[in-house]
Amino acid sequence: MRSTLVRQFGDPGQAIELVEVPRPAPRGDEVEVEISLAAINPSDLIPVTGAYSARTTLPFVPGFEGVGIVRRVGPDVEDFKAGDRVVPIGASGLWQQFLLRPAEWCFRVPDGIEDAQAAMSYINPLTALRLVEALRDHFGSLEDRQVGITAAGSAIGGMLVRLLALEGAVPTAMLRSERSRGRLDKAHRILVAGSGDRPMSIQFDAVLDAVGGAPAGELIGQSIRSGGTFIQYGALSGAPVSQPAIGGRPDIRFAFLWLRTWVHSAGRAALEAAFLRSFAGLQSGLFTSPIAATYPLSRLADALAHQADPGRDGKILLDPRC
Ligand SMILES: NC(=O)c1ccc[n+]([C@@H]2O[C@H](COP(=O)([O-])OP(=O)(O)OC[C@H]3O[C@@H](n4cnc5c(N)ncnc54)[C@H](OP(=O)(O)O)[C@@H]3O)[C@@H](O)[C@H]2O)c1
Repeated sequence: MRSTLVRQFGDPGQAIELVEVPRPAPRGDEVEVEISLAAINPSDLIPVTGAYSARTTLPFVPGFEGVGIVRRVGPDVEDFKAGDRVVPIGASGLWQQFLLRPAEWCFRVPDGIEDAQAAMSYINPLTALRLVEALRDHFGSLEDRQVGITAAGSAIGGMLVRLLALEGAVPTAMLRSERSRGRLDKAHRILVAGSGDRPMSIQFDAVLDAVGGAPAGELIGQSIRSGGTFIQYGALSGAPVSQPAIGGRPDIRFAFLWLRTWVHSAGRAALEAAFLRSFAGLQSGLFTSPIAATYPLSRLADALAHQADPGRDGKILLDPRC
């Protein structure tokens, strides 16, 4: 079967190989899923670079998110049968044609959600839900809370803006350039860096940050009110949030949210509930993401080059069947 493999850490364009490997049979509680579509997310590429080398074992097959069809099940599997459409989670490995995963890590996808959106139903929707939950833990009610969202042109940024507005909060979408303004609903406040917009004049109750580096330091220093919170969940700038900036604000709460930590401690019932909300959000449009292109896995190099293009407008999907 067609697969990918990372034998050594490095630039994803070089380090991820296309390989042919034998198709293994499911045993015990394993489900064999033929992957229909897999997403390329920043979280797939960061481990390839070796950034998490302490907790990444080589060699490995990348890909944390996607959707597929159950083809075979092990003798102990009762809840799934051939033909079920599922999202398999819990470990990387989706950038290959056939995946073996324990049944407890597979979630059935309802009819009426197209494969392309089902392939993105896990990482960003569940993280957006956890971030809003973290804000609710901090503030109680989100009604009228001013929440800044950095990198709001990203897939998850758009979800957060819509979700927070639905929860009664007042989201402000922060963008690094005019380019992605059109991706956001004009009803929301949008601040574009370097334009006439003046982000520092706003005092946020909370900032949800996926950028880090100097922009995060400025927001922490000047734009969060006392008693507020700063939650980091990404570092798209490639730089950490400055420790002196954090040290200078003992009056606000800092947190880092990593979906993986929650997923591996939440338990099946909480994950099922989260997926039900994700699937409902996909059906209502709350969690739908724009798609820039879908590539056959055999054209992985082109897909990765497109992913790295700063002009990319939406998610890149991989089809491991071809
Ligand atoms: N902690 C977790 O568990 C978790 C879970 C999900 C996602 N995340 C993080 O969330 C972030 C976004 O993920 P995604 O899947 O939504 O990505 P995505 O859809 O690929 O979006 C990336 C977009 O972010 C914007 N961007 C990139 N670098 C930026 C920068 N330095 N400053 C401001 N904006 C920048 C760009 O939009 P424009 O060029 O249009 O501005 C780019 O198109 C990533 O850092 C990811 O790791 C974390």
